[in-house]
Amino acid sequence: MAEIDIRFATPSDLDFVKQDGYIPAEVVKRKIEWQEVLVASKDTTLVGYLRLEYLWSLVPYIALIYVTPEHRRQGVGITMLHFVEEFLRNRGFNVLYSSSQANEAEPQTWHRRAGFEECGIISGINAGGVGEVFFRKWLK
Ligand SMILES: CC(C)(COP(=O)(O)OP(=O)(O)OC[C@H]1O[C@@H](n2cnc3c(N)ncnc32)[C@H](O)[C@@H]1OP(=O)(O)O)[C@@H](O)C(=O)NCCC(=O)NCCS
Repeated sequence: MAEIDIRFATPSDLDFVKQDGYIPAEVVKRKIEWQEVLVASKDTTLVGYLRLEYLWSLVPYIALIYVTPEHRRQGVGITMLHFVEEFLRNRGFNVLYSSSQANEAEPQTWHRRAGFEECGIISGINAGGVGEVFFRKWLK
């Protein structure tokens, strides 16, 4: 199986890392400049990305993690997570937050398997009144 490489996104990755369309391209561009976007590749093919942000500009939070459907369940998500954990640990952070829609069981399973614990819910924050479950992982 091809090795999974993780690195920070560069401007040439923009089309790939904005494909979900949740936020404007201009914002994604700025996040790339701020080292808040990672990409995963196998050989030269991009297979996943992770967008990081900081609650109150202080507390790291995974805004989105995405693996292309044909590359799921091959360790890409976990490998991106470990890269971001190491990056944050080296900068002195000791906790990472993330979240998932309340009606999506699979990403919740992934978070628990990846070492996150559930730490709260914001009800009705998503379209259609769907809640968002929050997760926390201590960075030992
Ligand atoms: C959630 C997501 C990022 C996981 O990435 P991935 O690369 O497929 O997951 P990994 O290979 O790292 O999975 C590690 C472990 O998590 C668990 N897991 C992952 N996906 C799972 C699923 N769909 N159902 C149940 N368990 C799952 C498994 O235990 C898995 O280990 P295993 O394959 O050896 O059993 C990916 O499925 C995805 O992009 N989903 C769509 C976007 C999304 O929902 N993102 C999360 C909310 S922001």
